[in-house]
Amino acid sequence: MMFKNQVVIITGGCSGIGRAAAFRFAQEGAKLFIADLSEKAGDVLMEELEKVGAEAAFARIDVTDAEDVERMITDCIQRFGGIHVLVNSAGILGPRARTERYPVEDFKNVMEINVFGLFNCMQAVLPHFLAKKSGNIVNLASVAGLGGFAGHVGYSASKHAVVGMTRTAALEYAKHGIRINAVCPSFTMTPMLENAMTNDDTNYLDALQNAIPMKRFGKPEEIADAIIYAASSAASFMTGHTLVMDGGLLIA
Ligand SMILES: NC(=O)c1ccc[n+]([C@@H]2O[C@H](COP(=O)([O-])OP(=O)(O)OC[C@H]3O[C@@H](n4cnc5c(N)ncnc54)[C@H](O)[C@@H]3O)[C@@H](O)[C@H]2O)c1
Repeated sequence: MMFKNQVVIITGGCSGIGRAAAFRFAQEGAKLFIADLSEKAGDVLMEELEKVGAEAAFARIDVTDAEDVERMITDCIQRFGGIHVLVNSAGILGPRARTERYPVEDFKNVMEINVFGLFNCMQAVLPHFLAKKSGNIVNLASVAGLGGFAGHVGYSASKHAVVGMTRTAALEYAKHGIRINAVCPSFTMTPMLENAMTNDDTNYLDALQNAIPMKRFGKPEEIADAIIYAASSAASFMTGHTLVMDGGLLIA
C-alpha cells in the first residue's frame, strides 16, 4: 500500500478523474478528504467509498472561494491530523466557440475556476507543507495546456496557466521537500466530455477521437494511475513535470 496512513485532498473528487483517483488512493491505503460543489454527490461518494473500506470525509467547497478553501485545509488537518497530497482536479471546460465569438463572461468563469481556484488551493496548502518540509501537489492540466485547442480559447489559456503555476511553484519549493507536478490528459471519458458530447454534434466528438493515434478516448482510471505515480515515492525525483497521458495525440 503506497499511501498507507497518508492524507490526500482531492478537489473535484466527486466526478470523473478526481473520483477515479479517490478510489485508486483508497486502494493504496490513503485517508481521503474530498472537496466538491454538490453535497448530494458528496453523500453518494462517501457511501461508495465506505463500501470499499476507505476512510473518507467530504466538504462542500467552491475552489473559487478563498475562505472555503482555507476551511478545506483546516477541516482536513483537524479531521486527519495533516495533509500529504493535494490533487487539484476541480475544473470546467467552458463553451466551444471560435475566439471572436467566445463570450468574455465564459472566458472569465473558466479562468476563475481553473486558474484562480487552483491557485487558491495551492496557496492554502503550501504553508502546511512548508512547516513540515514535505508535501505533494498534483495539478490536472491538459494537453490543451501544452498546445492549442481550437474552439476552446478559455480552457486552453487556463490550462497553460496551470502548467505555468506548476512549474513556478515546483521551482520555488523544490528545496523544501515539496514536489509539484501536472498531469496532462487528452480527451478522457468523464462527465466533462460526455456533456460536451450531448451539447455538441457527434461528428465533432468522432473527429476528436480520430485525432488520437490510439483511436479511443482515455479512461479516468488511466489518468488516476498517472496521478498516483506523480504523488508516490516512485516519482521522488520528479518535480515541475508535465506528465502527458494522451494516447499519442501530441506526437501525431
Ligand atoms: N475529461 C477530459 O477529457 C480532460 C482532459 C484533460 C484535462 N482534464 C482536466 O481534469 C480535471 C477533471 O476533469 P473531469 O473530466 O474529471 O471533469 P468532471 O466534470 O467529470 O469533474 C470535475 C469536478 O470538478 C468539480 N468542480 C467544478 N467547479 C468547481 C468548483 N468551483 N469548486 C469545486 N469543485 C468544482 C465538479 O463539480 C466536478 O465534480 C479538470 O481539471 C479537467 O480540466 C479533463
